[in-house]
Amino acid sequence: MNADQVVHLNGELLPLADAKISVLDRGFIYGDGVYEVVPVYGRKPFRLREHLARLQRSLDGIRLANPHGADEWARLIDALVARQPCDDQAVYLQVTRGVAKRDHAFPAGVTPTVFMMSNPLVLPTREQVERGVAVVTAEDNRWHRCDLKTTSLLGNVLMRQLAADQGAAETVMFRDGFLTEASASNVLVVRGGRVLAPPKDHLILPGITYDATQEFAERAGVPFEIRPVSRDEALTADEMWLSSSTKEVLAVTTLDGRPFAGGVPGPVFRRVHAEFQAVKRSLQAA
Ligand SMILES: Cc1ncc(COP(=O)(O)O)c(C=O)c1O
Repeated sequence: MNADQVVHLNGELLPLADAKISVLDRGFIYGDGVYEVVPVYGRKPFRLREHLARLQRSLDGIRLANPHGADEWARLIDALVARQPCDDQAVYLQVTRGVAKRDHAFPAGVTPTVFMMSNPLVLPTREQVERGVAVVTAEDNRWHRCDLKTTSLLGNVLMRQLAADQGAAETVMFRDGFLTEASASNVLVVRGGRVLAPPKDHLILPGITYDATQEFAERAGVPFEIRPVSRDEALTADEMWLSSSTKEVLAVTTLDGRPFAGGVPGPVFRRVHAEFQAVKRSLQAA
């Protein structure tokens, strides 16, 4: 932790060590808030419009007014990004329902708390990209509004720990026999040269990288089909990928301790990953 790192709290830029909130903040008491993570390449936020649209959707989902318009968010994010030493960053922003006497129902007339920080973007290592990563599987036991990016992440935290306990990168989840997502990534599979992606319903987060991956796959001439994926189809797929803002796309090569999909990233992954890197390089150079 760098105490001097410049962060944003309620409209002010200040050192991390001075950013303080009340213990009565509903984000702390109830996890009553939403958040976003926006990757920044060459100091330019990637797909910011899409992240801000999802933020609005999450805020609507928890019935909290957006404290800023999209242009204002963009300005605040640029100001924060400008104060960091690295060009490639990950902006974390969260909005909670604010500080109030503890009571479950929404308080009246409370100002939301806005917190943002931006850290160096830590992307997968070359080895992770070239060799793929390990995952474990579990039954999805989270709530039924996984489409909202809320700070109440205990279900996801416990799922990720299952993976960490076994030295794996992620926990891939199934609900009622169908693939949902992983603890902090979307999951896509490849069968017969086609990417199969679970529908963006209330059981998964509508990933910005999922959409980018769809675009890059289609640009690379790979068919992309959105439909429910059964556990059986996932576990016997030719390839399985994780997608997220900080993982980009990663191939799964070990599943529940056994080699998966030949134990190496597949050819479809390599094509789509190359497309992703080309787009990123052009952003970094712009
Ligand atoms: C549960 C979950 N699903 C999917 C994703 C991927 O979303 P994105 O591509 O927008 O980062 C995330 C990102 O952190 C996540 O937490």
